[in-house]
Amino acid sequence: MTMRALQASSPEFELTRGGSFGIYVHVPFCATRCGYCDFNTYTPGELGGATPQGWLEAVRVELALAARRLSGPAVDTVFVGGGTPSLLGGAGLAAVLDAIRAEFTLAADAEVTTEANPESTSPEFFAGIRAAGFTRVSLGMQSVAPAVLRVLDRVHSPGRALDAAREAQAAGFEHVNLDLIYGTPGETDDDLRRSVAAALDAGIDHLSAYALVVEDGTALARRVRRGELPAPDDDVLARRYELLDGWLAQAGLRWYEVSNWSRPGAECRHNLGYWGGGQWWGAGPGAHGFIGDTRWWNAKHPNAYAQILADGALPIAGFEVLDARDRHVEDVLLQIRMRTGLPLTLLDADERGRARAAVADGLLTEADRRLRLTDRGRLLADGVVRDLLSD
Ligand SMILES: C[S@@+](CC[C@H](N)C(=O)[O-])C[C@H]1O[C@@H](n2cnc3c(N)ncnc32)[C@H](O)[C@@H]1O
Ligand code: SF4
Repeated sequence: MTMRALQASSPEFELTRGGSFGIYVHVPFCATRCGYCDFNTYTPGELGGATPQGWLEAVRVELALAARRLSGPAVDTVFVGGGTPSLLGGAGLAAVLDAIRAEFTLAADAEVTTEANPESTSPEFFAGIRAAGFTRVSLGMQSVAPAVLRVLDRVHSPGRALDAAREAQAAGFEHVNLDLIYGTPGETDDDLRRSVAAALDAGIDHLSAYALVVEDGTALARRVRRGELPAPDDDVLARRYELLDGWLAQAGLRWYEVSNWSRPGAECRHNLGYWGGGQWWGAGPGAHGFIGDTRWWNAKHPNAYAQILADGALPIAGFEVLDARDRHVEDVLLQIRMRTGLPLTLLDADERGRARAAVADGLLTEADRRLRLTDRGRLLADGVVRDLLSD
């Protein structure tokens, strides 16, 4: 792999692979920081003078430079993520979409998603972004149990995410996702059951569920280190995953990636692009992009990001060019996590041998010349990939 911190050189961006083309826009603002989260996001006190207006201006400049470098592919999917995009308000998010439309052509059936924190949404907000052209909303819910929300430092009440999901549908959004976190210290099986039941009752067509990860440098990690909270337990996480998967399947939401469930046809197309060989431009502070064989990432702080653009350059902090082996590892890693699995033809003879052992161990199945994770394999997906790729 060729990896460089970008100073003197600049990567090539050649859309070589076909498949879908997406635009990701990173909104680096949050009202408060949740204790578990290490995303590239800043609370008002951490912004060093950066403002949403300055950020939007800088994003406009980056998109214009991107369009010039790519010579105008049609955009299949847009994903505005964060941080907390809903802090921009309906008008701010409409301006982001206008900025994309000013430089690129959106496909007629483009999927246009925004993430939102339930706290910064309202019926007017959803009506505004629907009218602006957004087609999908993804809301952080995490749990309905007040004690779990407290441990996670979530400021919204248990019911707010559910109300927001209903408000989004009332405003015309057919596609609404809720994010859950499971395995929080103190969470019970019944807390999770009630969270899933409430999410389903809110009429959503997509659910993402993440095992709580104790990320270094977070307030949660400090509390675990001081012994105030236990670390999530692997056996509990595995049981919760199985419970969750069973409840969701019963309700007609089937898994299509290890952490994602949807009604048939309601899969997130933007994320399918990430996992299935699509290409995308990542705009905004700290955003990652992947085009041709080049993966790159932007300067992280909004001020550093905006300054580089003000100087007339792309705000790229570093990039790497994937060689054939890197690409292979990446393909196996991502495709095995999907319900559709991995074509056998992607593997070399040694890897096929190891895949046969995983089939014998009940971790993979083989059908139609594809390998797919079994239910048990999904619990051990990282280990399955490690074994497949081990030389
Ligand atoms: C950008 S946030 C979603 C939108 C909004 N910022 C919010 O939190 O409501 C993305 C999601 O990542 C998940 N997440 C973030 N940090 C995590 C961690 N350490 N462990 C598990 N899930 C995490 C949460 O489920 C969160 O909803
Ligand atoms: S989970 Fe969402 S709201 Fe909480 S700090 Fe992370 S990005 Fe911000």
